[in-house]
Amino acid sequence: MNMFKIILVFVVGITVPRVLWGNDACVTFIGPSNYIPRLELPPGIPLHSADSCKDCHQEIYDQWRESMHSKSSTSPVFQACWTVRNNPPFCSNCHFPMLEQKPKILRGFKETGPLPFVAIKNRDFDTMLIKEGVTCVVCHLRNKTLYGPREIKEGEAPHSGKYDPSFQKSEFCYTCHSWGFPRARIKKTCYTSDEYIKSGKKETCQDCHMLRKEGFASLGRPKCVYGMHDQKSSRNPDELRNALKVELKMEKDAYKIGDKVKGEIRVTNTGAGHRVPTG
Ligand code: HEC
Ligand code: HEC
Ligand code: HEC
Ligand code: HEC
Ligand code: HEC
Repeated sequence: MNMFKIILVFVVGITVPRVLWGNDACVTFIGPSNYIPRLELPPGIPLHSADSCKDCHQEIYDQWRESMHSKSSTSPVFQACWTVRNNPPFCSNCHFPMLEQKPKILRGFKETGPLPFVAIKNRDFDTMLIKEGVTCVVCHLRNKTLYGPREIKEGEAPHSGKYDPSFQKSEFCYTCHSWGFPRARIKKTCYTSDEYIKSGKKETCQDCHMLRKEGFASLGRPKCVYGMHDQKSSRNPDELRNALKVELKMEKDAYKIGDKVKGEIRVTNTGAGHRVPTG
């Protein structure tokens, strides 16, 4: 399906498409002012850290470690963008959304000024937990219960576990993957959900980004097919190859050293469920 076409004409070298993330993003964004309030742990789970899950969900833990979800607070690109504006607390609402992960809590906004927010120190701040970014309990823990995509029979898990059908719906991902900068010209700056809906794709975000794997999702349980947590997407050459068709048309058939290179690259989005790049 030729949904979106990007045509790049280049003269000596390639014009890199404009990336949304610049310092402007840090200046103008006033995000959702919500974070995940204190999460009580179910019996048998000692800490909010992914270390609590590691021993029993080793495969999933290892995958998550590779994902950007586990690096969403430590990524140097994020850190650079965040610190340049004195660490606005609202960035954390998606990048490390639990109360215990926030160094400061947002108290309100000023009308103007270089730092248009007011923040106070958070007494519950956990200096280790912030490093885990979008960690396991961010997605799985509510009401002292670990929720997941399947019915778990009593006694099958050593912790309370409840089935929640939303884990297999695209809407699950919308909260953090769709938003805009209110003061910017383009209101819906990063709106993967709208792009996805427009694409008319039948697959869910999870179908494409949590690829099925046969393995051991949980310790002591039989081998099963489950959704991987590494979200590799463009970092997986196979996934990228399936998503994009690249055609190259050059002005001449052959070039000598020192020649000016002129040509046309046509990149067609054939497989992604949204624009490329998205987010
Ligand atoms: C609590 C917020 C949150 C939720 C829920 C969430 N994400 Fe993310 N996701 C993020 C953040 C923040 C990043 C960016 C991390 C970074 O690059 O610093 C990210 C990164 C990603 C990336 C990788 C981007 C890259 O550049 O490699 C993919 C793919 C992704 N998420 C898919 C999903 C899918 C699919 C779901 C639903 C199952 C989902 N996310 C749910 C916050 C979230
Ligand atoms: C961004 C949100 C997110 C994060 C972070 C996350 N998960 Fe998940 N998890 C999901 C979703 C969505 C599914 C359902 C995937 C599917 O089946 O399509 C899932 C499924 C699971 C399952 C069920 C597997 C099965 O089918 O039996 C387990 C167990 C699990 N996750 C454990 C973990 C652990 C442990 C971590 C941290 C190391 C973690 N998750 C981090 C969203 C998340
Ligand atoms: C002592 C071992 C153990 C620990 C620790 C543990 N789990 Fe589990 N978990 C299991 C087992 C066993 C199952 C049942 C799997 C099954 O029946 O397929 C399970 C099931 C799950 C499910 C699936 C629930 C569903 O309804 O789909 C999720 C999600 C989950 N665990 C997340 C976590 C998270 C997050 C942590 C860390 C905070 C964690 N678990 C810690 C052993 C453990
Ligand atoms: C039909 C499959 C498909 C569906 C459905 C889909 N995606 Fe993607 N997505 C891809 C592919 C392939 C890429 C890699 C190409 C790229 O970088 O855009 C990608 C890239 C991404 C990225 C950028 C990560 C990166 O590595 O650059 C994010 C974030 C993302 N998707 C989130 C989502 C969310 C959220 C949804 C659901 C609203 C979704 N995707 C639905 C296939 C899909
Ligand atoms: C509503 C959720 C949300 C909020 C709030 C948010 N982000 Fe993000 N951010 C994301 C998601 C989701 C991605 C991943 C998108 C992708 O890779 O396509 C991301 C990616 C990024 C990236 C590029 C990824 C990397 O680490 O390489 C940077 C930098 C970034 N965000 C900075 C910020 C800053 C600074 C703020 C506050 C001004 C902020 N974000 C607020 C959801 C959010």
